[in-house]
Amino acid sequence: GSYDTGDHQHHLIKEIHEQPDAVERTLRGRLDDRFHTAHLGGLNLDARELRAVRRVKILGCGSAYYAGEMGAQLIEELARVPAHAEPASEFRYRNPVIEADTLYVAISQSGETYDTLAAVQEIKRKGGRVLGVVNTVGSAIARECDGGIYLHAGPEISVASTKAFTSTVVAFALLALHFGRIHDLSPADGRRICAGLKALPGQIREILAQEERIAELAAEYAKYDGMMFIGRVRGWPVAREGAQKLKEVSYVHAEAYPASELKHGPLALISPELPTVALVPDDELLDKNLTTLGEIRARSGRVLAVGHRVPDPRHADHAVVVPRNEPELDPLLLGIPLQLLAYHAAVALGRDVDKPRNLAKSVTVE
Ligand code: G6P
Repeated sequence: GSYDTGDHQHHLIKEIHEQPDAVERTLRGRLDDRFHTAHLGGLNLDARELRAVRRVKILGCGSAYYAGEMGAQLIEELARVPAHAEPASEFRYRNPVIEADTLYVAISQSGETYDTLAAVQEIKRKGGRVLGVVNTVGSAIARECDGGIYLHAGPEISVASTKAFTSTVVAFALLALHFGRIHDLSPADGRRICAGLKALPGQIREILAQEERIAELAAEYAKYDGMMFIGRVRGWPVAREGAQKLKEVSYVHAEAYPASELKHGPLALISPELPTVALVPDDELLDKNLTTLGEIRARSGRVLAVGHRVPDPRHADHAVVVPRNEPELDPLLLGIPLQLLAYHAAVALGRDVDKPRNLAKSVTVE
């Protein structure tokens, strides 16, 4: 059952492998092949109300916040409505301006994170409308919200979030598709995104099939005291979540930076002792990213590239190649090898993978 690790050694790796099924469940019954859109019955927002939304503000803590950053990009790309994510923990302490034409979206796997719940309550007190993107049905945050999307990812036991993270981003893709199709996303682009979403479970399985090789790379890179994670635009939240995962379960220090910012400071850290994990999708920023990798290699920094093809040795020492989806959905796939990297680094270092020190699965107190 869901509460034992079955054939797997830890909940974390079991849940990483459950992602194709989790994504299928998040998508189930929600794609419309006739109008190339998504149906989300729980939003409690009709098309007229949704069209009146001028801004989207997304709140969550930890991995939920990073999923929110990916969600914000999806909403901007597909619906062309400004969207921004912020840690719920910060938002609730800064007397935020609550606007009537902003749609607030709270993300929480457990639905019980106190900082996120407090942010929702503050928004509601000031008249804002809040949707929840939540895994646990009937949880405190789900009950407090005006509507939302349930992930249906199944129970997540490991402290480090993986399948709930991925399902959250899929839920945002559905929201962005639905929102986009009542704004100006074309039927052709709607069809393209629907097809991309349907391809995800199979493509995640393809990445998981590379586990053995990624485990070897993880054992090698786990020897370092720290790692740098970089990505541009779509790759940037992937880098942030990848660094977070590594820190949480392996206790290896990791920094995440936008690749574009490297030369404005952290390039000073690059040396043979600090390897870089670089997200290099084959998008319009590939050349820029390869230039950055050349700058790292020129300073004898080791590079592990995650992208759509094996780069030239001038740019990377190692590469993990993931299947190509649609550019907007590629971040979902680029993040999967980083989960395996973190897990296997933690195993190589003998860490308590499912219960990392100092962390709790949900922080229900202030
Ligand atoms: C804790 C966990 C994190 C998680 C965060 C938010 O800090 O250690 O892994 O991302 O809470 O949890 P939630 O249940 O609100 O998504």
